[in-house]
Amino acid sequence: MERGFRLILAASLMLMLLDLCRGSTIGVCYGRNADDLPTPDKAAQLVQQHNIKYVRIYDSNIQVFKAFANTGIELMIGIPNSDLLPFAQFQSNADSWLKNNILPYYPSTKITYITVGAEATEVNSTSLVVPAMQNVFTALRKAGLHKKIKVSTTHSLGVLSRSFPPSAGAFNSSFASFLKPLLIFLAENKSPFMVDIYPYYAFRDSPNNVSLDYALFESSSEVIDPNTGLLYTNMFDAQIDALYFALAALNFRTIKIMVTETGWPSKGSPKETAATPDNAQTYNTNLIRHVINDTGTPAKPGEELDVYIFSLFNENRKPGLDSERNWGLFYPDKTSVYNLDFSGRGSVDVITGANITNTNGTTWCIASSNASDRVLQSALDWACGPGNVDCSPIQPSQPCYEPDTLVSHASYAFNSFYQQNGASDVACSFGGLGVRVDKNPSYDKCLYMTTGSNKTLSTNATAIPTTSHSLAGKVHTSKSSWTFMISFLLFLAIDSIRGW
Ligand SMILES: *[C@@H]1O[C@H](CO)[C@@H](O)[C@H](O)[C@H]1NC(C)=O
Ligand SMILES: *[C@@H]1O[C@H](CO)[C@@H](O)[C@H](O)[C@H]1NC(C)=O
Ligand SMILES: *[C@@H]1O[C@H](CO)[C@@H](O)[C@H](O)[C@H]1NC(C)=O
Ligand SMILES: *[C@@H]1O[C@H](CO)[C@@H](O)[C@H](O)[C@H]1NC(C)=O
Ligand SMILES: *[C@@H]1O[C@H](CO)[C@@H](O)[C@H](O)[C@H]1NC(C)=O
Ligand SMILES: *[C@@H]1O[C@H](CO)[C@@H](O)[C@H](O)[C@H]1NC(C)=O
Ligand SMILES: *[C@@H]1O[C@H](CO)[C@@H](O)[C@H](O)[C@H]1NC(C)=O
Ligand SMILES: *[C@@H]1O[C@H](CO)[C@@H](O)[C@H](O)[C@H]1NC(C)=O
Ligand SMILES: *[C@@H]1O[C@H](CO)[C@@H](O)[C@H](O)[C@H]1NC(C)=O
Repeated sequence: MERGFRLILAASLMLMLLDLCRGSTIGVCYGRNADDLPTPDKAAQLVQQHNIKYVRIYDSNIQVFKAFANTGIELMIGIPNSDLLPFAQFQSNADSWLKNNILPYYPSTKITYITVGAEATEVNSTSLVVPAMQNVFTALRKAGLHKKIKVSTTHSLGVLSRSFPPSAGAFNSSFASFLKPLLIFLAENKSPFMVDIYPYYAFRDSPNNVSLDYALFESSSEVIDPNTGLLYTNMFDAQIDALYFALAALNFRTIKIMVTETGWPSKGSPKETAATPDNAQTYNTNLIRHVINDTGTPAKPGEELDVYIFSLFNENRKPGLDSERNWGLFYPDKTSVYNLDFSGRGSVDVITGANITNTNGTTWCIASSNASDRVLQSALDWACGPGNVDCSPIQPSQPCYEPDTLVSHASYAFNSFYQQNGASDVACSFGGLGVRVDKNPSYDKCLYMTTGSNKTLSTNATAIPTTSHSLAGKVHTSKSSWTFMISFLLFLAIDSIRGW
């Protein structure tokens, strides 16, 4: 009886964690406003080579759908503003679009979001957005897909009338009639509030008020929000928090924010002096690092945030200043505009053109020297048992037996588990006993595993990412790795009860 109860408790706890702990992700926007881009097939290959797992496109192009079919890459697709009218007018238009343009490619093309219109407040198409969203949602519901494909729309920060200090964030009341039904829709359907965030423009347009360092996540000083006492070290966080406060002011506290575009141009007109490859690299590198460890923002610490970097390619047909055509991570010939450590784990070397050391971002996981012996022993037992680590190298007379200490043995086992399970944060957690290091702990003949050095995985190999480079941001921790960690925590808990 009691045991059954405990099992149920454990199982529900596990499901809850699996649901909650998806982790922040980093994707890329694949804009195609250019006449010199590689074909969608080639672009999809490039995306895969760089281990990008999330891609935003701006339409529902069939060639692009086909190119991303069976890649496992999640696509956010869009209905452009110019197409909104028929979607807003008749349900049947949304139904037939879904039937003819989407369903034939789904689910082999993994579509997870539909953006209905983009930055409507910038182009005065607000009256069409919510009706079109509702019709698209109804079409999805009829097809049984409304939980798998989320419907939302993107915004510019111009929806706010005030963004500083963040706690004073407020929506522009001119948009009230647009925003009210929209926010109700998002809250009811657990869809995110999507926003395009560009500290670049804020800096460019008021360089006297905004420091470049603050825009680039490089600031050593802090900006204090006088109302909350929260400290801001970068503009990105301040802008996101302004939105959280604006939502909270209208009592929509459960809506999550998703950043559907952000980035930095690598080139601009002579007046746009901040548009350089160095700054673009610094911004995007710091952004990825900031996001993937679930840092959250000062108002929402630890909150997961999914972010899409704008953009995959430079787009030569975009109108406007030179910078508009230079947001890409890649040139149309698929070479990189600058180096970007997609894993967010490399050394803090963000100087373009210099030799980047440690670009492959290899990390290892060792045991904290602070842990008590009893807890370490439990963790070691777990790793060598349920964790499926090959612990023969730490047996007597084997290369990693000496030094014969728990810390040393646990370090070896932790690292093997970590490498075998995608080298993700969670795979080195061990309830706080694991410590990630970027120096290879191998010594003498005791060789610590690196990612990919052994593909023998604890469970189904296809489910577990083995690379440490991932523009998926946080390497998407597989469910099996979570299951392991949770079984580990339960193991520890039970062990501690036994130890009483
Ligand atoms: C926005 O569009 C509506 C009609 O769709 C029009 O009445 C209104 O004047 C427009 N506003 C602006 C600022 O262009
Ligand atoms: C609010 O939006 C309206 C319409 O776009 C605009 O004219 C006005 O300047 C905005 N107000 C603020 C404070 O940004
Ligand atoms: C700079 O900040 C001050 C005070 O917040 C504000 O009054 C002023 O309008 C800002 N200037 C620009 C160019 O944004
Ligand atoms: C996450 O990154 C931020 C800044 O990049 C850093 O200050 C923070 O300590 C990191 N948090 C964790 C848990 O690694
Ligand atoms: C980069 O490394 C190469 C060889 O490792 C060296 O010859 C070159 O001078 C280095 N360049 C810079 C900018 O450090
Ligand atoms: C990454 O670099 C380390 C040394 O810095 C090396 O041991 C390791 O084999 C490299 N990994 C890959 C996958 O290239
Ligand atoms: C060990 O504990 C000290 C003080 O509690 C802490 O500063 C340090 O970061 C810990 N080291 C590790 C490896 O956890
Ligand atoms: C990988 O693991 C298998 C089975 O555990 C083992 O036989 C093999 O030697 C390992 N290879 C390396 C390179 O560690
Ligand atoms: C791994 O997963 C694939 C696809 O889900 C399945 O076909 C295969 O049988 C599984 N293999 C093992 C060993 O469980």
